[in-house]
Amino acid sequence: MEDRHVLRLVAVFEGSRLSSACWFLWLDRKMLVDKSRKMRASRCWQLLLSALALVSSCAVRGIEAQPTIELPPPLQWNFYQNSCPDVEKYVRNQVESSWKQDRTLAAKFMQLLYTDCFIKGCDASVLLDGPDSEKTAPQNAAILGLPLEVIDKVKEVLEQHCPGVVSCADIINLAARDAVILAGGVSYPVPTGRRDGNSSIAKLVDIALHAVRWEQVIHYFQIRGMDLLDVTTLLGGHTLGKTTCKFISDRLYNFNNTGQPDPSMDPTFLSELREQCPPNSTNMVYLNPDSGPSYTFSKTFYSRVLNHRAVLGIDQQIVAQDESLQIAKRYDANYEDFLKMFGYSMTKLGNTWLLPGDQGEIRKNCRVVNWK
Ligand code: HEM
Repeated sequence: MEDRHVLRLVAVFEGSRLSSACWFLWLDRKMLVDKSRKMRASRCWQLLLSALALVSSCAVRGIEAQPTIELPPPLQWNFYQNSCPDVEKYVRNQVESSWKQDRTLAAKFMQLLYTDCFIKGCDASVLLDGPDSEKTAPQNAAILGLPLEVIDKVKEVLEQHCPGVVSCADIINLAARDAVILAGGVSYPVPTGRRDGNSSIAKLVDIALHAVRWEQVIHYFQIRGMDLLDVTTLLGGHTLGKTTCKFISDRLYNFNNTGQPDPSMDPTFLSELREQCPPNSTNMVYLNPDSGPSYTFSKTFYSRVLNHRAVLGIDQQIVAQDESLQIAKRYDANYEDFLKMFGYSMTKLGNTWLLPGDQGEIRKNCRVVNWK
């Protein structure tokens, strides 16, 4: 495990020192048996000791150690403090009442955030209507409908209370955070001050959904400022939600054009999935069959991955690389650590490629740019 992952985990697991210590003890043992990494092990111990000393000294002084997240401009903590102090309350009320009517909302908001931020940064371009807007791209079919209607309702309320102030990009981020909490995740801080973009082009949509290799995915996240720890953690979002059979049919029937199923899949699970997804089926299946219908976070995601019972090929690839495998084992053993780290990585996801300064605008209606 690389030093930067170690430092980040120290920061994120600040709330449970014992847990952090166990994590590093485990880490050190693993590294000691791996002779090629002996040098790195001693560096890890130095980091561990200084981090624990720091956390302890903060605790002695009664100061809460916080994970540090560098905020890219124009983000601030509590950006709307004066201009719209109750923004978070308005968003939460609307998300909560919609979620009570339809539990799929949490999964949809998480995917909406991922989609918006990964196309050309978190600028709410995915919300814009238009004959060739991002919404029309086939990869985005699943996010149409409910989440966009909820965003419209939130925006309507906000325009009544604080006209022209809160960006649609911030609304997506706040709504995704509230949805994560409602689905049993832990709360995380969402800095605000994002600006809305004024273009949306379907052909820019390069969201990877299907048959992608692990190295490609890591690269795809890295150029957006996230690393392997974030990837392995955010894929845990697949503990809730559904997929169409077409995204897994290659794994079931013709993996890498071999005419055979994915050899990494547990044979019993393969038979179960083949029953639900016969060839050319347009059925939907749960991304995590153990917790699917509840639409809540569940401990079972990483254990399924470790037991070769992941539904999506991308999730199964977590075990193909040693570092991500170790992270998955950690999360399987310590679900709370996953939940905390998930929040941290969601904050980072929401900081991707923001419009700087006063570029962009604050849309009055999230579906259209202001000058139309
Ligand atoms: C390389 C990265 C990723 C790949 C390859 C991927 C792949 C997929 C696929 C194939 C689906 C099914 C979509 C459909 O049938 O229309 C899906 C759904 C979903 N993804 Fe991902 N995903 C990735 C990253 C993420 C991230 C970063 C998140 C955010 C935490 C996320 C959260 C979700 C959720 C919650 C769903 C279920 C949506 C629903 O049921 O409405 N995914 N993903």
